[in-house]
Amino acid sequence: MEDILKMKNITKKFGSGHTEVTALNDINFTVKNGEFVSIIGPSGSGKSTFLTISGGLQSPSSGDILLNGTSFSNLAERKRADLRFKEIGFILQSTNLVPFLTVQEQFTLVNKVSKHKTSDQQLEELLKSLDIYSLKNSYPRDLSGGERQRVAIARALFNKPSLILADEPTASLDTDHAYDVVKLLVKEAHEKQKATVMVTHDERMVQWSDRTYQMKDGQLLADK
Ligand SMILES: Nc1ncnc2c1ncn2[C@@H]1O[C@H](COP(=O)(O)OP(=O)(O)OP(=O)(O)O)[C@@H](O)[C@H]1O
Ligand SMILES: [Mg+2]
Repeated sequence: MEDILKMKNITKKFGSGHTEVTALNDINFTVKNGEFVSIIGPSGSGKSTFLTISGGLQSPSSGDILLNGTSFSNLAERKRADLRFKEIGFILQSTNLVPFLTVQEQFTLVNKVSKHKTSDQQLEELLKSLDIYSLKNSYPRDLSGGERQRVAIARALFNKPSLILADEPTASLDTDHAYDVVKLLVKEAHEKQKATVMVTHDERMVQWSDRTYQMKDGQLLADK
């Protein structure tokens, strides 16, 4: 297996002087293709900071990040955005659907610019596996929070990224849908050789993980 994401001595500080916060403290972390890794920690422990830095949405204060062997944190913003678009599927804490596009249109727009094209049949299968196929002509405002979250998950998977970064993907779901979503992400990781990192505060969601870490005050600790 290859290292898809490698974080070396990553530290992130916000603010300065007596208001300085160390959100991430000297983190070393690797995820390989085919692995599903969970990070569990309480609110404010640094989970979202970890995930947005690993995906290049913000820069670390120090340390280095390699994405498929390429030093990611030192790239110019345009190249970084390019790589991010091709290689990373984000599932963020707040869903980022386009309000004036139907569920189906959220995908067709992406497909025009993507290097990995997805067929109509593949899209249908993906939407069915997340129980949202019947909603394909609906707009985001007409969906429940859980349905919107599942559309966001489908969109992250749709582009066939090598790395999937999921921030509390089950936060707005009922237990059954939450379990289904995590199991689907685990299955994608194992069958399609995706490197997947999920952060959560919900211990019930980590039971299918290949590895689990604890995030505590910006430090990453191996679980048990
Ligand atoms: N842009 C920012 N500016 C200043 N402080 C920040 C910023 N982003 C995060 N922090 C601080 O860094 C720490 C970690 O925040 P983070 O959002 O990563 O936590 P989290 O584990 O994702 O929490 P939650 O479970 O509530 O989503 C917190 O103390 C937070 O206040
Ligand atoms: Mg968070």
